[in-house]
Amino acid sequence: MIGIFDSGIGGLSVAKKIYEKLPQYQTIYFGDTARTPYGNRSQELIYRFTEQAVDFLFKQGCELIIIACNTASAEALRKIQQEFLPKNYPDKKVLGVIRPVAEAVAENKKSKRVGVVGTRGTINSGSYVREIKSFNPGIEIFQQSAPLLVPLIEEGFIKRRETKMILKSYLRPLKLQKIDTLVLGCTHYPFLHKQFKEVMGKSCKVLDTPEIVADKLTDYLSRHPEIESKLKKGNSHKFLVTDVTEKFKENAQNWLGREINLEVARLA
Ligand code: DGL
Repeated sequence: MIGIFDSGIGGLSVAKKIYEKLPQYQTIYFGDTARTPYGNRSQELIYRFTEQAVDFLFKQGCELIIIACNTASAEALRKIQQEFLPKNYPDKKVLGVIRPVAEAVAENKKSKRVGVVGTRGTINSGSYVREIKSFNPGIEIFQQSAPLLVPLIEEGFIKRRETKMILKSYLRPLKLQKIDTLVLGCTHYPFLHKQFKEVMGKSCKVLDTPEIVADKLTDYLSRHPEIESKLKKGNSHKFLVTDVTEKFKENAQNWLGREINLEVARLA
């Protein structure tokens, strides 16, 4: 099984693309709704929560986990891969969302001045800068945290004037830098993709990050048959969360575009 982990339900943006592009695999989506959001938390706490989630998903039978949450990918993934996995699950894999997007940025030779927006945790970690530069040190990168966007999106303020105004104010410094590419480095921002495009204008390409992640995962599985062969096949998708409220249900169904059953899972 493929496990998809997020701090809450915003990661359904990534899950949706994975279901579209890789419909042949069983998946478990796990959202830590009881402790969301992670975006403004300390690195230490984000690591602890992510380690618990990864352990939980492996115990559910996952062979491969995608950390759909940018904040957790930025603040916890490296330590999970370098310390937690070798000690506890040497045969299993955990992948994040930052490296595949960084690789896609570097592959596009037209990307020379790249903007990255994300939560405070993601931006302060410098992970996108590090990863993009590891592929191409010549790319100039400009970052901007946009902490008000997650709550606005969760409140359903997608088409509101207030949201557009806040978006404009966050994006102004990046526009002044004349970026040619914008990375939406947060699970929620793709729900505002159209608004980001409108504010940035035609001279800037706003990347579809969930699509990139799903495409890179497809590519990864074709290059790693030893992992692919262990994944359970069959179009079954389970949704586990650490807390359920009406609002979580409503957002989850709106974002995924269909009815789903959110089951509550208790972490030990
Ligand atoms: N999932 C988080 C991310 O992609 C956004 C929500 C949160 O702050 O937990 O960074």
